[in-house]
Amino acid sequence: MKFFLALGFLVVCCSALSTKQQRRFPDDFLIGTATASYQIEGAWNEDGKGENIWDYLTHNNPAAVKDGSTGDIAANSYHNVERDVEMMRELGLDVYRFSLSWSRILPSGFANEINEAGVDYYNRLINEMLKYGITPMITLFHWDLPQKLQELGGFANPLASIWFEDYARVVYTNFGDRVKHWITINEPREICYEGYGSVHKAPILNATAIGTYLCAKNVLIAHAKAYHLYNNEFKDKQGGQCGITISANSFRPFTDSEEDHAATELRRQAEFGLYAEPIFSEEGGFPKELVEIVAEKSAKEGYPWSRIPEFTDEERELVRGASDFFGVNHYTGFLVSANEQISDRPTIPILPDITVGNYIPPEWPQSASYWLTLSPDSIYDTLTYLQKRYNDPIFYITENGWSSPPTNGLLDDDRIRYYRAALESVLDCLDAGIRLKGYMAWSLMDNFEWLEGYTERFGLYEVDFSDPARPRTPRKSAFVYKEILRSRVIDHDYEPNTTVMTIDEGH
Ligand SMILES: *[C@@H]1O[C@H](CO)[C@@H](O)[C@H](O)[C@H]1NC(C)=O
Ligand SMILES: *[C@@H]1O[C@H](CO)[C@@H](O)[C@H](O)[C@H]1NC(C)=O
Repeated sequence: MKFFLALGFLVVCCSALSTKQQRRFPDDFLIGTATASYQIEGAWNEDGKGENIWDYLTHNNPAAVKDGSTGDIAANSYHNVERDVEMMRELGLDVYRFSLSWSRILPSGFANEINEAGVDYYNRLINEMLKYGITPMITLFHWDLPQKLQELGGFANPLASIWFEDYARVVYTNFGDRVKHWITINEPREICYEGYGSVHKAPILNATAIGTYLCAKNVLIAHAKAYHLYNNEFKDKQGGQCGITISANSFRPFTDSEEDHAATELRRQAEFGLYAEPIFSEEGGFPKELVEIVAEKSAKEGYPWSRIPEFTDEERELVRGASDFFGVNHYTGFLVSANEQISDRPTIPILPDITVGNYIPPEWPQSASYWLTLSPDSIYDTLTYLQKRYNDPIFYITENGWSSPPTNGLLDDDRIRYYRAALESVLDCLDAGIRLKGYMAWSLMDNFEWLEGYTERFGLYEVDFSDPARPRTPRKSAFVYKEILRSRVIDHDYEPNTTVMTIDEGH
């Protein structure tokens, strides 16, 4: 009897072990976390920083933010370099993705005057990370446009691509000796559709019908100019790589009907194809089907031109292929139907030119954010689609995460469930041969969640926003993430001892 029990135990234990060994994150696969400047830095007017569009919006239109809050102090990261890097060391991160505040480096927005105190802050952060072997990945622009540039039209002005290129030159010159991973622009969809085409992000222009497409073209050209600048003037000496991050969620047909498949594909083009197609497709330019739909509608509406602008041949070639990798911010998934009335459940809004139905199965767990559910295998679904459509590019998942209400505190089993499921889906991608090189959890710590203020928390570390020093405390999910980083496997049974967070030397 004893013998059989022991044998049974042996079998269970060793088959579990061998599965784990098959499902290991490779040593050169970069696992990390991500943040963005306006959401964490604070110090909005310190040491010469200029005003940006989020300073302007939160100060002049507080009603636009759910809790009337601002990022004036946010997580106070400007004054917490050592603690922020200490958290990265506690987790044992390979990589940390953060963004630079354009107006902290160039207060006027233009490259006529460099704010040395701003440059110094990022130097201290980069150097502290490098001291402990943590790889910096820098986003040049994560939505906090200098307000002066917005007053000149922001990304509705074609000159924005030149302003951005000037800024990029300052950034590569000052940090490129140590930074080898560059992302030019974070999430064109959220900049253009949410900021210019509607009212979900600063500058809340609500230039429906026009704003999204105008911005899309200018943002893509801005990205391409910054990419070619790096390639032509810096890459030889500095040896880094430069790409863009686009938000891409999973869209799957509600039924297997031809209509639902077509609706799904159209939705993908409206959500991320608008930004991905000009860079990553073989032909370049905006997605054809979308271009046709908008052109036809524009004519009917009496416009003398299509609301979706064309690229000149020269612009098309500038943008086409202009990225060393495809950065994907991925959070969730949706089922898409040709029937618009399929569900009245609120969802992330879709371009008004596209009329398709949206469905979220009730059994998909819901986060604190209305648009974010745990959609099974959504990473695998998204990356296999992008791999096929865009000819097998190199990918990084540059954001992925889960929100909870502020009252949830430190025991975040819902977040742990989400990350374990997401990382299993990442391993599925690696098994399938997708060239995915890294994964960054959103986010290292709680932060200012744009128009939701502090009502939604995404942090592995909780931040106490009632304390002026903004102390950070690891959530249970931080301990679980740390163990995944340490062991390079996902152990679904691991129960951390959350009493003390330590730094494991030698990681
Ligand atoms: C945005 O514009 C649309 C019309 O294009 C209008 O229906 C809507 O009310 C506007 N939203 C706000 C918040 O102004
Ligand atoms: C957790 O760790 C603390 C500190 O090392 C220790 O005192 C405690 O006994 C541990 N708890 C469990 C359940 O292992």
